[in-house]
Amino acid sequence: MGAETVRAVLVGCGEITGLWFDALDRIDDVSVVGLVDLEIDRADRLREQRCPDAETSTDLNGMLDRLRPDCVFDCTVPAAHEHVALAAFAHRCHLLGEKPLAPTLEAARRLVKAGRAAGVVHAVVQNWRYSTGMGQLRAAVEAGRIGRPTTLTADFFMAPHFTGFRNEMDHVLLLDMAIHSFDQARFLTGADPLAVQCLEWNPPGSPFAAGAAALATFRMTDDIVFSYRGSWSAEGRPSPWHGEWRLVGEGGTVRWNGADRPTGERRAGPGAFWSDLQPLSFDEPPPMAEGHEGVIRDFLTAIANRTRPPTDASDNLRSLAMVFGAIEAAKTGGWVDLRPYYA
Ligand SMILES: NC(=O)c1ccc[n+]([C@@H]2O[C@H](COP(=O)([O-])OP(=O)(O)OC[C@H]3O[C@@H](n4cnc5c(N)ncnc54)[C@H](O)[C@@H]3O)[C@@H](O)[C@H]2O)c1
Repeated sequence: MGAETVRAVLVGCGEITGLWFDALDRIDDVSVVGLVDLEIDRADRLREQRCPDAETSTDLNGMLDRLRPDCVFDCTVPAAHEHVALAAFAHRCHLLGEKPLAPTLEAARRLVKAGRAAGVVHAVVQNWRYSTGMGQLRAAVEAGRIGRPTTLTADFFMAPHFTGFRNEMDHVLLLDMAIHSFDQARFLTGADPLAVQCLEWNPPGSPFAAGAAALATFRMTDDIVFSYRGSWSAEGRPSPWHGEWRLVGEGGTVRWNGADRPTGERRAGPGAFWSDLQPLSFDEPPPMAEGHEGVIRDFLTAIANRTRPPTDASDNLRSLAMVFGAIEAAKTGGWVDLRPYYA
């Protein structure tokens, strides 16, 4: 272990840790020294498979007292995120936690406040920002290739067969999944959410207890409208995990199918009934760390430089506001003002 190696304790040894260790295996300056889970078998199995030198325990506070790590990686279920965060902050540990930041807005606000008071780096895994396709779309928008953005749409349709916490969770699509798309919408446009209207339902035949589908419309700053359509109970012709995107600007449109390279067209001349259009070319992006690797690298950089990472928890409140505002709007049936959610 080098002098600059960041020592981490990882809590919650379930499904998602596969992606974490795939990423951690490619990063030199971090070492997982402890694994914690309510079920010791899970922690022991993960040690065997991915992290042979780590200690294992069911007692997070005890392990933090003993090992005094620099940071905590929270891979537990959403209902446990507050408990884990408060333990990390009480030990002055930096925290990188899985999305969603917390299962309620009140809990998320408490966590952001507690992280600030502890003076640590506190970030959320919004790994979908970290993809070449998203990066290319954003670069095209920033370079003005389609003019001023006006309209953004995202479609997310699939039917995964989960076991575990999701099947019984309320608002499962909005809270567990749409948080990614809502965060991507902010990332792409640089705009903040102002208000939302939403219909949320559980389609007949859904394997989930509640809220497997939603349609939400957001008014964003800069006069942008964002429309999200999603279902986790949609058999056949699935969209990719990243969803399918269309961003319309005053002078053109870019599209991304969530998997391949983006495409686009811009107005080249006034034409007759239709404008003359020209295909957009996208710059070849510099090589980037995708997904969890990108998030973890930016988190480590923020610790080293004492800066805020791109997926800082206080900024994430704005993405989470879109989730909880959409849930509220679905209940009330009207527009919900989102600004008080993150003021
Ligand atoms: N970023 C992504 O793309 C992505 C993808 C999938 C899941 N996730 C998120 O990762 C988190 C975990 O999801 P998963 O699919 O791995 O769930 P999982 O149920 O497979 O694993 C969760 C683990 O946490 C443990 N746990 C629960 N409460 C605990 C506590 N208080 N202390 C210690 N351990 C505890 C459980 O025993 C279990 O082993 C969720 O927040 C989920 O939304 C993120």
